[in-house]
Amino acid sequence: MFLKNCWYCAGWDHELSQGRDALITRRIAGESLVLYRRPDGGVVAMEDRCCHRQSPLSLGRKEGDALRCMYHGWKFGPHGRCVEIPGQTQIPERACVRTFPVVERDNWIWVWMGDPAKADADLICKAVGPGHPDWNLRTSKVRVNTNYRLELANLSDLTHISWVHDQTFGGTTVYASTRPKHTLKPRGMDTEIWLRGVPAPRFAQHLFPPDMVFDLYFLSQMSFPCNFILHFQVYAANNAAGAAAEGPSNGQLMLDTFSSQAITPCDADAVDYYYSWGASKATDAPGLGVLLYEAINEAFLEDKRILEGQHQRIKEKPDFRTVDYAHDAGPGKLLWLLDKLLKEEAAEQVA
Ligand code: FES
Ligand SMILES: [Fe+2]
Repeated sequence: MFLKNCWYCAGWDHELSQGRDALITRRIAGESLVLYRRPDGGVVAMEDRCCHRQSPLSLGRKEGDALRCMYHGWKFGPHGRCVEIPGQTQIPERACVRTFPVVERDNWIWVWMGDPAKADADLICKAVGPGHPDWNLRTSKVRVNTNYRLELANLSDLTHISWVHDQTFGGTTVYASTRPKHTLKPRGMDTEIWLRGVPAPRFAQHLFPPDMVFDLYFLSQMSFPCNFILHFQVYAANNAAGAAAEGPSNGQLMLDTFSSQAITPCDADAVDYYYSWGASKATDAPGLGVLLYEAINEAFLEDKRILEGQHQRIKEKPDFRTVDYAHDAGPGKLLWLLDKLLKEEAAEQVA
């Protein structure tokens, strides 16, 4: 089940800038879409389904700001209305293809999958795009064959960093003994974590003496369907390793990073994951961008392996009774909120 009245990321804007005639296809929340750029630069998102005989419009041809189906040649304007039917002058009233509101922001393309009258651009998550002047960010994407609820659970419980990402972001098991601060929001959840006096993440340990420790700060802002906006900072630790310390660091900020991650459910069995990561220009250093980029790419393959395997096991035994533990609090709150919004939306549609 998917929220309809919600902005879904359809990818990076540069994906629609490769060739004037480019058509890209997306599967979003169970719907097949085709996207293209109009000559004036705006983006059109249309159902990828001709209203004549359901041929994919993505097999068609862009003509100015219109799209022609290349089965029998019907042509559709950017608002989805059929404007030409070869061999007949009359165009039936119902000859329309559904279109979706689109907003480009932070170098992402956002598509509203619900009632167009409710498409409020203020509901788009507050990210930092790769075009932001204060940050050096690199972007990528990956398809993960899992359900988006498992992604929500994964990102709202960062203890998995110790285990799934032992060889990349991990290097300490302190995550398990640290209680994050979760704050539910109307359409998502913020989570704040301080880790004090821990080794550098594994991917960066070769850069520092083996006994050097740091304070790490995470502030994640999650929103539906599955956006994860992360401010991650590294401070020099003034306390010795393992010394009791809680709360904000008393050391100096060494590295300030931002990662914007938009995970779009394609259907019940797959997500498209669009992400960026990089340092602030004030704390960047030669080679750091590549190091972060390689680490996040590798780490997301680690997540992919676990989440695809977990999804398969759940499909084998959907009624299997699992057992909870303390760190399920974050995922529990977030999925509870998702279910509440899904129920409210379903009730609105019935009313
Ligand atoms: S299926 Fe598109 S014109 Fe016939
Ligand atoms: Fe992860």
